[in-house]
Amino acid sequence: MATNLFEKSKLMGSFGVRILGQAVYGNPSVLERSNSIYKSGRTFLHHGPETNTAPRLNRTRSVQSFYNQSAIDIAAAKPSVRLTPATILYSGKSPDGSHILRSAQYLHKELPVRIAHRVAGFRSLPFIVGCNPIILAVHELYIRAFYMLNEYPQIVDFETEKGYCQLLQGLLDDHKDVVTQLASGFRECRKHIKNEELVRNFLDRTLTSRLGLRMLAEHHLGLHNENCGGNGNYVGVINVSMKLKDIIDKWADFVRQTALHKYGKSPAIKLNGHINAVFPYIQAPLDYIIPELLKNSVRATVESHLDASEESLPPVTITIANNDVDFIIRISDRGCGIPHQVLPHIMEYHFTTANLSTDPRLDGGLFGNIMSEPTETSGPMHGFGFGLPTSRAYAEYLGGSLTLETMQGIGTDIYLRLRHIDGKFESFRI
Ligand SMILES: Nc1ncnc2c1ncn2[C@@H]1O[C@H](COP(=O)(O)OP(=O)(O)OP(=O)(O)O)[C@@H](O)[C@H]1O
Ligand SMILES: [Mg+2]
Repeated sequence: MATNLFEKSKLMGSFGVRILGQAVYGNPSVLERSNSIYKSGRTFLHHGPETNTAPRLNRTRSVQSFYNQSAIDIAAAKPSVRLTPATILYSGKSPDGSHILRSAQYLHKELPVRIAHRVAGFRSLPFIVGCNPIILAVHELYIRAFYMLNEYPQIVDFETEKGYCQLLQGLLDDHKDVVTQLASGFRECRKHIKNEELVRNFLDRTLTSRLGLRMLAEHHLGLHNENCGGNGNYVGVINVSMKLKDIIDKWADFVRQTALHKYGKSPAIKLNGHINAVFPYIQAPLDYIIPELLKNSVRATVESHLDASEESLPPVTITIANNDVDFIIRISDRGCGIPHQVLPHIMEYHFTTANLSTDPRLDGGLFGNIMSEPTETSGPMHGFGFGLPTSRAYAEYLGGSLTLETMQGIGTDIYLRLRHIDGKFESFRI
């Protein structure tokens, strides 16, 4: 079955949903299982005539497919093997490309285990959350990803490795909207959940695990084109000489442009401190966190100075500090601070003041909708109240922290601390 699967996938040239189809044809037991996974999504997702007329037997099988998964149970019982970025960075590049095969073999073992852990997380959600159609669709996406990865043949040569890369790329695409889906799904069933901690734990773990999975998959894909940075700076996802200032400049420009477009004005964003700092790091999480923090500061500045001209808006100031152990980014705004009654809630998922303003000058008060253009990295995640809690979860996953000090009536300072990954001091494990 294994060879059959691979041969067919080569012919089709792409993976994704279709590879599941191949697994299905090759193995009747997988056929049954996958069909029922697929149907189960439908049964739950469409409450139309199809569901109403579906035979009882079918429905029972659909429901069972969500927890009657012995392969997932076996994988979920295994521990995950997490590597430090330094291990990945210095694991040795061999001229014959065998490091690429080793990397794929590691993923081949590791990814199904991690995804099985996440499926276990979905299973342990309270009933009222677990059967929300959007959450169910994401749960199903994880089950499908598990089978695609778990059924993939052993990686023995560059042929099998190539197919594996296509599978990874397909999965990265299929899962790109998961954060938005989880945000919408949980928002729908939020009123039924009394236990705040449960939501936070689930989202923290699911989102950070997703970050780790994506970094691993993208790292492997990146090993094939190490010169993708244009100057040979990359080892997979690691930019070996990342200039932090360049990333901040890019996002400052993006946030300013978006605010200008929607508000007609934006504060200046100034940068100081160790602006020449260069060190190895993984850019992907920064591409999420930095724009989220900047959006908050720009929004607060504009909303608290509605009558001010653009020139008189107080700037948002970013300070970089770099040392042997970690690097710190402080973002300071003069957006009047976070009111006392709001402060205890800002790190809660779904807490937002984006829809509260009634000032007509804010076009309905929806800064949340101001940046609704989806982007590659930050996605259409605006006004969900996800910016701060997700950024903090990512920062902690990366062995760092996200803290803030606010002065009501003046402004807010937010500190992002992240540990270096060059191996001199302990960092984190992906
Ligand atoms: N720099 C800031 N100044 C004033 N208030 C802030 C600042 N940063 C965050 N807040 C408050 O914290 C709330 C939560 O922020 P968070 O980034 O998590 O969500 P959001 O910005 O409302 O929505 P999203 O980030 O999902 O688009 C905001 O709605 C706002 O009230
Ligand atoms: Mg925000």
